[in-house]
Amino acid sequence: MENMNWSDLSFGYMKTDYNVRCYYRNGKWGELEVSSSEIINIHMAATCLHYGQEAFEGLKAFKGKDGKVRIFRMKENGKRMQASSRGIKMAELPVETFEEAVLKVVRLNERFVPPYGSGASLYIRPLLIGLGAQVGVKPADEYMFLVFVTPVGPYFKTGFLPSKVCMMRGYDRAAPLGTGTIKVGGNYAASLAAGELAKEKGYAAVLYLDPKEKKYLDECGPANFFAIKGNNYITPKSESILPSITNKSLMQLAEDMGMTVERRPVPIEELATFEEAAECGTAAVITPLSQVDDLDEGKSYVFTTTNKPGPVCTKLYQKLTGIQCGDEPDPYGWVTIL
Ligand SMILES: Cc1ncc(COP(=O)(O)O)c(C=O)c1O
Repeated sequence: MENMNWSDLSFGYMKTDYNVRCYYRNGKWGELEVSSSEIINIHMAATCLHYGQEAFEGLKAFKGKDGKVRIFRMKENGKRMQASSRGIKMAELPVETFEEAVLKVVRLNERFVPPYGSGASLYIRPLLIGLGAQVGVKPADEYMFLVFVTPVGPYFKTGFLPSKVCMMRGYDRAAPLGTGTIKVGGNYAASLAAGELAKEKGYAAVLYLDPKEKKYLDECGPANFFAIKGNNYITPKSESILPSITNKSLMQLAEDMGMTVERRPVPIEELATFEEAAECGTAAVITPLSQVDDLDEGKSYVFTTTNKPGPVCTKLYQKLTGIQCGDEPDPYGWVTIL
């Protein structure tokens, strides 16, 4: 990978050497298999294609100053994939098998882990799909788990610089008691129209509102929302957002920094009172928000006009990314060294 320009990587797909697969057949999971093919060969009546029996995960591996590769909180992703499986009636992959597959795929593709200090990382994408041929709406009896990796740069073009998002009441990504709390493909299909419209209008993402009352903030495209007010870290509690592992980590770090963490419904009007606001996730890391535009009411909530991240977001960003690459101590054992 000598001639690779790691610092120019975008958040896209690049072919790597291997992926790892595992099949569920006759009521049990088989052995992990290594493949060098990017292609999967599946039945045209597979439930993943027709009825959206599909869940995925996203996590990252980082190269440290010491040359070691660290994977961030993979157990949490394994547990969340189980929750997704329960939500759409798929076979649950044991967390240990999930971890074993992640370690294996990273090890097999170690040459693709971007160097320390490049700002890039190795994105790990686990995927679980229903395979059995079915035409009635019912769960499959066969499943395939697959995990591949690809080196990535920042998700948003602006990286750790503030970006603008918008609210549009005409779109929801999930229903009030639907699948918003799990990571299934259908939620992302449902978010594409609003996401593309927002991009056309010059926004980085949509800040979704709670789908029941449209009074509270939900989440921000493929990331959770949080805000800073005084010494408080405030993040929405909702029945229709994905529990972000990054947000969970930041809540802990904020508490460790002596802040008060408030996880509760956040009314839209409260946007006017925040000193800093940001979105957070594996891909977004922390992306500060410069402003939120309410496109229906023609109102703007502005957090910064200087194009600089706020002081608390900066501190949290440094702490989180420091733990991820091994520059900071890891008191909670979040990191697995390869
Ligand atoms: C809808 C949604 N919300 C939030 C997140 C952030 O979650 P995490 O921090 O676990 O990556 C993601 C990305 O996984 C997501 O797709």
